[in-house]
Amino acid sequence: MIIEPKTRGFICLTAHPKGCEQNVMNQINYIKERPVANGPKKVLVIGASTGFGLASRITAAYGSNAATIGAFFEKPPTEGRPASPGWYNSAAFEAQAHKDGLYAKSINGDAFSNQVKAQTIDLIKADLGEIDLLVYSLASPVRTHPDTGQRFKSVLKPIGSTFTNNTVDFHTGEVKNISIAPGSDQDIKNTVAVMGGEDWQMWVNQLKAAGVLSNDFKTVAYSYIGPSLTEAVYRKGTIGRAKDHLEATAFNIADALKDINGQAYVSVNKALVTQASSAIPVIPLYISLLYKVMKEKGIHEGCIEQIERLFNARLYAENLELDEAGRIRIDDWEMRHDVQAKVLELWNNVTTDTLPKLGDLKGYETDFYNLFGFKVDGVDYKKDVNEMVEIPGLQD
Ligand code: NAI
Repeated sequence: MIIEPKTRGFICLTAHPKGCEQNVMNQINYIKERPVANGPKKVLVIGASTGFGLASRITAAYGSNAATIGAFFEKPPTEGRPASPGWYNSAAFEAQAHKDGLYAKSINGDAFSNQVKAQTIDLIKADLGEIDLLVYSLASPVRTHPDTGQRFKSVLKPIGSTFTNNTVDFHTGEVKNISIAPGSDQDIKNTVAVMGGEDWQMWVNQLKAAGVLSNDFKTVAYSYIGPSLTEAVYRKGTIGRAKDHLEATAFNIADALKDINGQAYVSVNKALVTQASSAIPVIPLYISLLYKVMKEKGIHEGCIEQIERLFNARLYAENLELDEAGRIRIDDWEMRHDVQAKVLELWNNVTTDTLPKLGDLKGYETDFYNLFGFKVDGVDYKKDVNEMVEIPGLQD
């Protein structure tokens, strides 16, 4: 079929298998030139199909020849209806990994559930024996608690008072004011339940209890801080409380891993266009300005560049520097004083009319379409493609 983008707000309802494949190949090729010395060998990635998780899987596999198991929640294709992009990404990654002699298997299901955890543990036991790295890169709007069955919905709201600021509709380029009413205590609890650290801890506890963690095992989860511009809706908002919880959980996990000399970290990553971040108000306008500034300074990175730096210059480097709160920082270039001062200056002057000049809306838009395999260089979108793509190592 011919597949075209069908967008609705900040989501795209279709995805292109060839475009997704090309994106994956570009990331693989980037990493092949940047091997990770003493990198991981047996890796589990939760949230492995898109964004930072996919980049982590590719970096482990192609940077250090690691066997990878990826868990994710993606929609398979049906005749005439394309799959979600993470499905096509995983299919492309596994097909290539198998060609290159790398072990790669996937589990598609709800990673919050006990069933997916048990299935993953069985797979590790059967195929790998143990893992030496767990990357926790899940981003979800909802979670059903595995013990109580309660369903939580996360929200992206400020806390305490209404937040009013500019945002952009990146389809039209219109810069407009939005006001977001503060979240309730229940909203905070729900958001922490979905995006906080409880599930990460459950994963580690169950993996450890099953005896499938190696000595010197490492685990890393991803967080975000960002500037004062986005603070009210991000770091000091409901999602920020979840990130506080995630970061605190790293210390609890590290304690629980002491007997196997294990380590648990949170890495604070850069703001990037992903399916998760495009849903957050204000962030798309911030990212458009940030991209412009970072590209001009020659320090722009995408997910793969970020994760390559995380592995090579942080996690598997000789000296791992942490910030005052014990976190890994790969948002260091985003948060540089000169970068933030320039973004703030642009922010104060940005309107619908000035955005095309002041910001990199085009870059934002291209990245957004790329997430779904569209507007990818080298792909012929007029050509018929088979939407019924299988993931070769997918477990039943
Ligand atoms: P993403 O939307 O690209 O990826 C989310 C992944 O989670 C996908 O693989 C998806 O299949 C999986 N997933 C969602 N629900 C699931 C479920 N119930 N069971 C199994 N898998 C599930 O998101 P992105 O942006 O890569 O986010 C990953 C982490 O990085 C999040 O913790 C996010 O907060 C963090 N982060 C993101 C930043 C950004 O600007 N995008 C910046 C800094 C941190």
